[in-house]
Amino acid sequence: MRILVVGGGGREHAIVRALARSSREPELFCTPGNAGIAADAELAAAEAGVVAAAQEIGADLVVIGPEVPLVAGLADELEAAGIAAFGPSGGAARLEGSKLYAKQAMKEAGVPTAEHELAASKEQALAHLAGCAYPVVLKADGLAAGKGVIIAADREEATAAVEAFFTEQRFGATQVLIEEFLEGEELSMLALCDGTNVVPLAPAQDYKRIFDGDLGPNTGGMGSYSPVPGIDADAVAGTVAEVHEPIVRLMAERGIPFHGVLYAGLMLTADGPRVLEFNCRFGDPETQAVLPRLRSDLVDLCTAAREPGGLAGVEAEFTPDWAVTLVLASRGYPQSSSKGDVIEGVEAAAATGAEITHAGTAIEGGRLVTAGGRVLNVTALGADAATARERAYDAAELITFGGRQIRTDIAARAVERTTQETR
Ligand code: AMP
Ligand code: GLY
Repeated sequence: MRILVVGGGGREHAIVRALARSSREPELFCTPGNAGIAADAELAAAEAGVVAAAQEIGADLVVIGPEVPLVAGLADELEAAGIAAFGPSGGAARLEGSKLYAKQAMKEAGVPTAEHELAASKEQALAHLAGCAYPVVLKADGLAAGKGVIIAADREEATAAVEAFFTEQRFGATQVLIEEFLEGEELSMLALCDGTNVVPLAPAQDYKRIFDGDLGPNTGGMGSYSPVPGIDADAVAGTVAEVHEPIVRLMAERGIPFHGVLYAGLMLTADGPRVLEFNCRFGDPETQAVLPRLRSDLVDLCTAAREPGGLAGVEAEFTPDWAVTLVLASRGYPQSSSKGDVIEGVEAAAATGAEITHAGTAIEGGRLVTAGGRVLNVTALGADAATARERAYDAAELITFGGRQIRTDIAARAVERTTQETR
């Protein structure tokens, strides 16, 4: 069996590694991939497009990692060409591609989420901001690589945000959702869907801000861990029943069945979970912590999710071990991007048993160098949160490059909570 993975980040590297563990022993390809993925899959060029690349390879399945090609309809194009694709159609991917579409779907399906108002113009936005409670959250409607959300503490900050959205058009011409600010802890609840059935993956938590203590600007994600203290099997089942299943049912009723990963970004508020956003794909870096714990065969799961009803009676099984993933980012990230810093110590880190997945790396003059943004992920497993965390940090300390940024508090809270529990 030949499988082509689309994407070139840490998430795709983790997907390639998980597919490689399948009993079906698939031949793995990746486009565009990166310097690390090249060790685990054959990199394929896609100058003539992904469909042509998949045809050339003779791919039996294409697993699409990122949201941009999904929203653009890559899964539809592949299926139209007779190639099996894992990932939602462009129509179903609107749950991520348009926050307004997602809000309307949630309203119709009765899924709990933050109250919102839609502002189609600067004037509408300012009028609403004159009378709303603070802090308030402003969101661009379309895809913005996690950067289109501004939390404004007061009216002054909100007015500045309105300028960024409507006058500077920092996220292109867009409508803006003005949303109630929710307080609580965040949870990433990913589930596999086959158009009707929902199979939860293990819960995870990610860290969006660049600095310790959740300070500084938002990033693509600086670390993650799985499972999450307090989120037991009942809590997972409850969330899936309250959030994923009604949405999957609604999409089926609309004739746009959702196949692939439905990722609910949740805020666990005092009044119960509220959806912050939907993503239509595996999370990055949640996937780097979740998939190493997966005991079920990922090839089977992806194949089943593509078939209408294929996941009936299927469960995704996970080891009870904990996984902690640390992101090593390049100098200046997320504001700027630095490239070409020589990376040392990856082999030594891998020799500790940690899983090193590559995100932004390249080979220059035979040496591994940074290629900007998030560079490497280090994932370690352990029987408890403390062990996994310690192993991850011990391994990450062996990896050096100029300007390396790493948060020192990933999974610290999980360790605190789980040690309190066992006391
Ligand atoms: P989103 O892309 O919608 O998930 O937003 C990115 C991040 O902004 C989330 O992960 C939260 O940290 C924060 N956020 C989004 N919406 C809200 C909200 N209504 N209340 C509080 N924080 C929010
Ligand atoms: N971890 C956040 C995301 O994948 O969007």
